[in-house]
Amino acid sequence: MAKTASLKIDDKEYPLPVMEGTEGEKAIDTRTLRASSGYIAYDQGYGNTGSCESKITYLDGDNGVLCHRGYPIDQLAQQSDFVETAYLVIYGELPNATQRKEFGLLLRKNAAVETQMQKILEGFPTSASPMAMLSALVSALPAYHAELATNNFEKDLQSFDLAAAIAMSKIRTFVAMIYRYQKGLPFMFPKQELPFCDNFLHMMFSEPYKDYLAMPEVAKALNLVLLLHADHEQNCSTSTVRMVGSSAANLFTSISAGICALSGPLHGGANVAVMQMLQSIHDEGDDGSRFIAAAKSGSKSNRLMGFGHAVYRNFDPRARIIGDACDSVLNKLGVDDPLLAIAKHLEQAALKDDYFVSRKLYPNVDFYSGIIMRAIGIPMNMFTTMFAIGRAPGYIANWREVAMNPKGRIYRPRQIYVGPTKRDYIPMGKRG
Ligand code: CMC
Repeated sequence: MAKTASLKIDDKEYPLPVMEGTEGEKAIDTRTLRASSGYIAYDQGYGNTGSCESKITYLDGDNGVLCHRGYPIDQLAQQSDFVETAYLVIYGELPNATQRKEFGLLLRKNAAVETQMQKILEGFPTSASPMAMLSALVSALPAYHAELATNNFEKDLQSFDLAAAIAMSKIRTFVAMIYRYQKGLPFMFPKQELPFCDNFLHMMFSEPYKDYLAMPEVAKALNLVLLLHADHEQNCSTSTVRMVGSSAANLFTSISAGICALSGPLHGGANVAVMQMLQSIHDEGDDGSRFIAAAKSGSKSNRLMGFGHAVYRNFDPRARIIGDACDSVLNKLGVDDPLLAIAKHLEQAALKDDYFVSRKLYPNVDFYSGIIMRAIGIPMNMFTTMFAIGRAPGYIANWREVAMNPKGRIYRPRQIYVGPTKRDYIPMGKRG
């Protein structure tokens, strides 16, 4: 018999269905609560709210577990690459050889950007935030692909494949264009023969008179960084993509909104903030204790960046993988970055401190990702745009779940109104 929970308010009982996910996560379905009782569930910040059922990513924050479509992140990090993991995240299964080839080809074919789009970029001051430019360019995509600016791909899955490839491939091209625009360098066209990461490095670092040939270690490190960002369940930006998508907005528009959400320093912007923190510890010859002491003040603006997570109460498995990779990548590339030693020291100091231990605050993915990105030549102000390239598959997969759910409803949370009660309009002459 199906399990139910029961809520008692005064003397009345309200039965509520109980749900269970495939990994045993339990929930009480409160969808009928307001209609039956007049009460809504209050959950500021949605920390205890399941906003959807999803088949994409499983995350157990208490035990530091992260799986995409059932595959553990450490296995993917060791054996897969970014494009294959992107396919898995978007389509639900690892691709066979033909599917992998076709997906790669679609990404390659859709890497180039319409020349008019350069003008959008050139409308920005070169000092503009790369995330603002990226979101603007992505939000312009429907204008160039009007036939794909729909949320209805159910009868035309090939068009969805094309929209997904355009989003994933062009976000990468946009990031390289933004970098070169800010540096005053000419844009480099993508090369069809190059794999995804090598092509990105080419668009970033080649010159019209000299090709940049990525060392295999560099392309591999980039693959790892992007793969580790591929999806992360209902985080702030992915939930934003789902919310915008639920209004029947198209894929590109929804992703553009997600990129805006990602820019905040508590979310994707943390990878820049971590490096700024490590750099200032280095420049001041500090041992990091100043940042730890400030973080313990409880003020939101002084948090230890790269530490803590809304869901993990244990090590972020991505931080472990990326932390371990730092040593080997820097070694292979012969890079000696003093910020790595500072980060390790800071991590050890925080993990011994009762403030962090008692609150179960551990390093997250952003703590070490910047060190690898710096080692492969990505400038710090571009770090969050790199996160966006990596997260694109997650945005696409989540948007698809929303758009292709025939029972989906527009996302529309309720609130508890605590403002003034009803009052009469006061004409200007009678206001104090
Ligand atoms: N430094 C100091 N104190 C912290 C930190 C931190 N980094 N993170 C959380 N706390 C405190 C928080 O103030 C609260 O204290 P108290 O119980 O005294 O009120 C307690 O720890 C529990 O906080 P929480 O409920 O676990 O945190 P949250 O869900 O509100 O916020 C977070 C999650 C990621 C925004 C937060 O940990 C943070 O601001 N971290 C620093 C920014 C960062 O690294 N963000 C990247 C997140 S991972 C990648 C991504 O998703 O983008």
